[in-house]
Amino acid sequence: MCGIVGITSNKQVTSTIINSLKKLEYRGYDSAGIATLNNGFINEVKCEGRVDTLEKNLSQTNLKGTIGIGHVRWATHGIPSTINAHPHSSEKVSVVHNGIIENSTILKKYLIKKGHIFKSQTDTEVIVHLITEYLKKNNLKKSILKMLKKLHGSFALGIIFKDQPDLIIGARRGSPLAVGYGPNENYLGSDSYALKSMTNKISYLNDGEFCIIKKDQIEFFDSNGKKINKKILQLSSTENNYDKGEYKHYMAKEIEEQPLTIKNCVNEYIDKINSNINIFNFPWKSEEINSILLIGCGTAYHSCLMAKYWFEQITTLNVNVDIASEFRYRKNNFKKDTMYIFVSQSGETADTYAALDLCNKNNMKTCSVVNVVESSIARESKFVLPIHCGPEIGVASTKAFLGQMLVLYILCLKLSYMRKDINKKKYLEKINSLLSLSKLVKLSLETESKIQLVCSSFVNIKGCMFLGRGYSFPIALEGALKLKELAYVHAEGYPAGEMKHGPLALIEEGMPVVVLAPRDHYYKKTMSNMQEVIARGAKVLLITNKNKDEVHSENIWEKIEVENTSEDLLPFLITIPLQKLAYHSANKKGYDIDKPRNLAKSVTVE
Ligand code: M6R
Repeated sequence: MCGIVGITSNKQVTSTIINSLKKLEYRGYDSAGIATLNNGFINEVKCEGRVDTLEKNLSQTNLKGTIGIGHVRWATHGIPSTINAHPHSSEKVSVVHNGIIENSTILKKYLIKKGHIFKSQTDTEVIVHLITEYLKKNNLKKSILKMLKKLHGSFALGIIFKDQPDLIIGARRGSPLAVGYGPNENYLGSDSYALKSMTNKISYLNDGEFCIIKKDQIEFFDSNGKKINKKILQLSSTENNYDKGEYKHYMAKEIEEQPLTIKNCVNEYIDKINSNINIFNFPWKSEEINSILLIGCGTAYHSCLMAKYWFEQITTLNVNVDIASEFRYRKNNFKKDTMYIFVSQSGETADTYAALDLCNKNNMKTCSVVNVVESSIARESKFVLPIHCGPEIGVASTKAFLGQMLVLYILCLKLSYMRKDINKKKYLEKINSLLSLSKLVKLSLETESKIQLVCSSFVNIKGCMFLGRGYSFPIALEGALKLKELAYVHAEGYPAGEMKHGPLALIEEGMPVVVLAPRDHYYKKTMSNMQEVIARGAKVLLITNKNKDEVHSENIWEKIEVENTSEDLLPFLITIPLQKLAYHSANKKGYDIDKPRNLAKSVTVE
């Protein structure tokens, strides 16, 4: 999704801005641009498409300047095009914007009446003209305050001015924004990835705040313009050099990293010497919590759904799951004895953030499960459980999904033991199984060769289905989502037992159906449902686990077996072939695997 970079320095900034924009490419975007100030003039270069194209265009223009702003845009208002790409500029001011201005139509009418001429179809352009208008009668700070008060919606802004050779304004409401501190230069960025190649010292703006960045000073203000102080945070250096290495795509690398990320996460949470789960500083007593509500979007929602099955099986807590974009606008009966758990890889997803904000405003117990520990969701939750996966760059979430499930499972075990829902023997058994998970995930990666053989059947099809029951149902949803987003194939995840209530009508001769049937207590039921689709012509790819009992069923097209483990942990193992299926199907079609069309990594608009 959109990304912002800003730099003021005593050196030329164009190439540093471009490098930083490249770090933001993982977010998903459709156009890019840069504006600098040189000899009192604002100059822009913009393009539809990738930062590489912008770089080529720049090589022909010799854009100079020691201050500038850059942007990658994911279209909301107005088609992806050069004219709609950011920055948007008037003679006086240039603006980059993440988010959506909800009252842009009304503001545009008002500004047109005042004589302003609009060039683009974007909502962002109203910001440019509002500031230009206010600057006629007000000083810079007053103009910014007036402009911010006029805007409805969500935004993170970076602004430079014709008459200010060393000044960038950053402002946020809803969308995240950070500043970075460098030697003789300072930075603005929509997230820490944008800033990490330049500095490891950063501060985050909170909702409603704005800042004035000069090359040797950064000042912060609240929404009334009152000066405030900010902590400077030190970022870890481990994420600075995350690249694809020998892999063709980040996604391929991230799938293969899973044994390691699982191992790291287990090491973080499991005390092997005392066979216990370490969740330190948990802020609530277990008896204060009687129910759990898990909230997320997309893949994170699927890990929430998975957790519901575990919590119900292993604890006596009431558990519900919600999609963040639905939760945030429903009438909610907030309950003091509920723990609200927000799951988000990026920690910046606008809908999840808004749901968290709503719970915080109602003074609820909020906990987040995140990958990016400096993210907005992590910072604003009362308790944070990191998944310790390292950066995930591929838009399709893989290692973060396993990490989210793992942390939710660990939390479930801990709460269950604290509440005496399971005895010590069971608790220790389950901890013990977790210790071999990384090794088993590694063995699941060996399903690759078989997946490469079957994936051609998933490439040019009208549609396909992923079926599972119980623990395998959320994984079926996730498998279908992966195939949709990467191979652009219509795929449905469905509870296997629900097929006869309608979707069975879709099954026709030769339609590929992935059946997830590990040998858990749903196995026999799922096998019966599998027969129902086979009988109607489906080409079934069965994913199960190795077992001494053969699978007794005829007419299965192909079978993939993962290792054996406890029922609780089988979902981790059967996820791997589904990730690989989506990856290889998309690869066969030559699609842009790390940046699928229309999608973004960090979904910072609602
Ligand atoms: O960063 P988040 O985990 O909050 O992102 C939520 C979804 O946007 C994300 O999981 C999305 O569904 C993935 N592209 C799926 O692979």
